[in-house]
Amino acid sequence: MNATASPHRTQVAIVGAGPAGLLLGQLLHKAGIDAIIVERQSADYVLGRIRAGVLEQVTADLLDEAGVGARMHQEGLVHQGFEMLFGGLRHRVNLNQLTGGKNVIVYGQTEVTRDLMEARQAAGLPTVYEAQNVAVHDFDGTKPRLTYTAGGRTHAIACDFIAGCDGFHGVCRTSVPRRAITEYEKVYPFGWLGLLSDTPPVNHELIYVNSPRGFALCSQRSATRSRYYLQVPLTDKVEQWPDEAFWDELRLRLDEAGRSALVTGPALEKSIAPLRSFVCEPLRFGRLFLAGDAGHIVPPTGAKGLNLAATDVKYLSQAFIDHYQRHGSDRERGIATYSQRCLRRIWRAERFSWWFTSLMHRFPDDDAIVSKLKDAELDYLMHSESGLRTVAENYVGLPLDFGE
Ligand code: APR
Ligand code: PHB
Repeated sequence: MNATASPHRTQVAIVGAGPAGLLLGQLLHKAGIDAIIVERQSADYVLGRIRAGVLEQVTADLLDEAGVGARMHQEGLVHQGFEMLFGGLRHRVNLNQLTGGKNVIVYGQTEVTRDLMEARQAAGLPTVYEAQNVAVHDFDGTKPRLTYTAGGRTHAIACDFIAGCDGFHGVCRTSVPRRAITEYEKVYPFGWLGLLSDTPPVNHELIYVNSPRGFALCSQRSATRSRYYLQVPLTDKVEQWPDEAFWDELRLRLDEAGRSALVTGPALEKSIAPLRSFVCEPLRFGRLFLAGDAGHIVPPTGAKGLNLAATDVKYLSQAFIDHYQRHGSDRERGIATYSQRCLRRIWRAERFSWWFTSLMHRFPDDDAIVSKLKDAELDYLMHSESGLRTVAENYVGLPLDFGE
């Protein structure tokens, strides 16, 4: 039997130290609300994960609000547009012009996580890494608890609220009784093979490619670090893709200008990720709240994952701040409306990510007519002011509040 250490008490117990959990911790700290973060992995493991790297303006503003935006402004690359390559031709989506001055910032999620971790450490805020057997209890009552084991002992944290920021494979969502939850899911019949290399990017802006051989994406982390992706069958294994095979296939999906500008080099990281659309409804179960990947997943086309996580967290922090600091009838409104507020925004981003994924990829069961129809849709979109604007306004992201 494990010995049980005496229980800690905090206002908000946060499960998961990914970007969602860390950002929530920082926003609560700024508001003077206590929180403890409990994470299953080590800090190094969390920082070793390579994820997307496009921040919407709303996300950048939230990082500023959390006091962690300095390096993002210094090192992040402001992109005013991106390119689409199909039918052998490139078309530019001028985000800035089409959206009345909005841009995106290219800055890796790993760096966002690092900045948040460092700020948390500098403020001396409690984070438990390598916690085992994390479990959430009694969230349908008024005294929720979180338990975990570490160093051979069981620890308990008594709290007012639990924030489930523990990603798609976390414990919070699966602790909710099945009858209380509805899950919507689509798994796509292909994956993305990603390669990170210390080579200058092939283009100063991102290129989304729809080629007869499948989708490709040319992205970047800095002027000297590139991130590329190839659509591959779900059955492919990374071992089947030595670096040279990756570069050869990427060349075949690019245009002549891309092929001649491409600089190749050894992979720093190479992995295959499945693509999934997933939403869980609702996102609140009594005193347990889900935020980020714990509640929803988007396929990466359009890079909405981190941005959606950030806005969930903004709504959630606001709900907690209202609860602790406001008086009167509005005090519980943020908590009561958290789920519906998030879900409306989430479904809009899910729709865009699903549509952009469907349009840009070759599906195994696409017959000749479907391919022709997708080509025609792309041709229409890139030659219509309204079409371009539709793509641009979704890509730069919705405002935090977008009306009734
Ligand atoms: N107990 C404690 N921590 C856990 C548990 C558990 N049982 N299960 C998972 N975790 C941790 C994971 O180790 C991870 O560090 O929760 C964290 C969740 O982090 P992310 O998966 O990065 O999810 P989130 O913070 O919601 O960030 C969303 O990540 O996957 C991308 O596209 C997504 O960019 C988006 C962002
Ligand atoms: C990335 O840089 O990893 C990236 C960029 C844009 C996407 C997806 C991933 O749509």
